[in-house]
Amino acid sequence: MGFRVYRPYDFPDRIDPEIGKELKRLGVRFEKELHAGTDAVVCLLGTKVDAAFLERAPRLRVVSNVAVGHDNIDIKACTDRGVFVTNTPDVLTEATADLAWALLLAAARRVTEGERFVRAGKWKRWDWTLLRGADVHGKTLGILGAGRIGQATGHRAVGFSMQVLYTSRERKLLFEHTTQARRVDFKTLLKESDFLSIHVPLSAKTRHLIGGKELALMKPGAILINTARGPIVDEAALAKALKARKLGSAGLDVFEREPEVHQGLLKLDNVVLLPHVGSATESARRKMLETALRNVIAALKGMVPPNALNAHPRT
Ligand code: NAP
Ligand code: GLV
Repeated sequence: MGFRVYRPYDFPDRIDPEIGKELKRLGVRFEKELHAGTDAVVCLLGTKVDAAFLERAPRLRVVSNVAVGHDNIDIKACTDRGVFVTNTPDVLTEATADLAWALLLAAARRVTEGERFVRAGKWKRWDWTLLRGADVHGKTLGILGAGRIGQATGHRAVGFSMQVLYTSRERKLLFEHTTQARRVDFKTLLKESDFLSIHVPLSAKTRHLIGGKELALMKPGAILINTARGPIVDEAALAKALKARKLGSAGLDVFEREPEVHQGLLKLDNVVLLPHVGSATESARRKMLETALRNVIAALKGMVPPNALNAHPRT
């Protein structure tokens, strides 16, 4: 008896002992292979779950993604096979918004360029013109996708006396109340933002949402921040706009073909590059894992998991 859970990755985190006890009570055995007897999957965003994957595990009850983004999972295919899909929202919101701001400040004030300059032994004296960057305070921050992380990123702008603009399919009244943010259409967002921070999920609708045409609409010298998903931005077009100094700079945590980074971007100084670490704090990662395991436990007990993305998969 018990359950067999495919977990292709070893998590070193110390989790809530109650979760450990519950997994033991259920007789959960973690395995490194997916097979016909697999009951559940705990995976990261690099695992592609599609119809072919599901064919290999006909007993599957739940795919528990340890991430809030779920573009790696074909939810319809899971629903059609009666498999729950779950994610880990909320617990990583603040950590990811912090990282968006780390990129924003680093890109505006040329932090990583300065770091490279010092380490290369190029710093000889205090210099009047050295590494001049862009002001952040008092500028306009555009939030593309004012969901959990978009709003958390917008909230931080209040401390910098920034004007906040956002796009969303519906008004976010509490967000507007706390930040004085103004909902605008996509074109206005592009045209009026000094900083544009991307927070929409990746979908067929948002793939290459920011391409050459959109970049051309942005203010000269504007700064683009992407902590959402790489393919939302056309990287080749972005590299071109940065090289031509049409955009001032960019801060990127995500890329079109991770872990590969577009050669055009690697050659530029005016882009800050991070290896997809938006949620990488000790506490956020532990809570993500716990959330993912709670989702598995609920599904194995025959309940609807707390973070089910498909509440009623066909069985
Ligand atoms: P969320 O709360 O669902 O927010 C996404 C927002 O985008 C929602 O407000 C959504 O709908 C809006 N939206 C969706 N499609 C849109 C479109 N075509 N145009 C404009 N707005 C659109 O998700 P979240 O928790 O903030 O996470 C956002 C994304 O961040 C995730 O999907 C993931 O890809 C990424 N992420 C990355 C990291 C990292 O490590 N870098 C960490 C966590 C998350 P409404 O229009 O209804 O508001
Ligand atoms: C990370 O990218 C996530 O979606 O949680």
